[in-house]
Amino acid sequence: MKKICPSILSADFTILKSEIQEVEAAGADIIHCDIMDGDFVPNISFGQKVVSDINSITNLPLDVHLMINNPDKYISEFQKAGADYISVHYENNFNLNRTVNQIQDLGIKAGVVINPATPVFMLSDIIEYADYILVMSVNPGFGGQKFIPGTIEKVRELKKTVQLNNYNCLIEMDGGIDLANIKEISDAGVDMFVCGASIFTSKDRSAVIKKMKEYIS
Ligand code: DX5
Ligand code: ZN
Repeated sequence: MKKICPSILSADFTILKSEIQEVEAAGADIIHCDIMDGDFVPNISFGQKVVSDINSITNLPLDVHLMINNPDKYISEFQKAGADYISVHYENNFNLNRTVNQIQDLGIKAGVVINPATPVFMLSDIIEYADYILVMSVNPGFGGQKFIPGTIEKVRELKKTVQLNNYNCLIEMDGGIDLANIKEISDAGVDMFVCGASIFTSKDRSAVIKKMKEYIS
């Protein structure tokens, strides 16, 4: 089953509990948490304490997207905070196999992320070990950016590789996904849809999530 993963980056942090519970009640499948260090990406978001607090107020799985340098140092802390999925970027990781193993050894799912400028073939030696690949459809760092259409082709290429080799690897896409493009993205082969602004800036989050689910089913 395909999954809608609201990114809380665009939520109102002063009322984060009710923001999350609202999307949970509306049918969201996974909560996406963007961790930014102001170094790997030009923005700072939040850390383990916030993830742990979120974990205490929702039953939904937590998908932690690490946009930080030296991600290996923090993996176990985020797992302890309640992460069910942790993804790390290809671009700043020199020992991806080790990192993927480190995440999986903690009993959770490991994802590898590629930026819009990184080609899919760079993943050819890691894809069979990853539980999911996250294809960035914006340059990471901020919510509410415009979807980069060329990234859809990367999903098609990935999907082909996964199917051809029978890999047990899901495809996630993150950035600029909304009601206007989600169907095309789904048809290209995406399994997990990260949506920030399109859900949290809407007055009727429930209607948006419902429509999204219709489009991807
Ligand atoms: C961008 C983050 C995204 C972002 C998505 O660096 O990884 O998860 O919050 O938000 P939207 O859907 O607003 O592009
Ligand atoms: Zn993200």
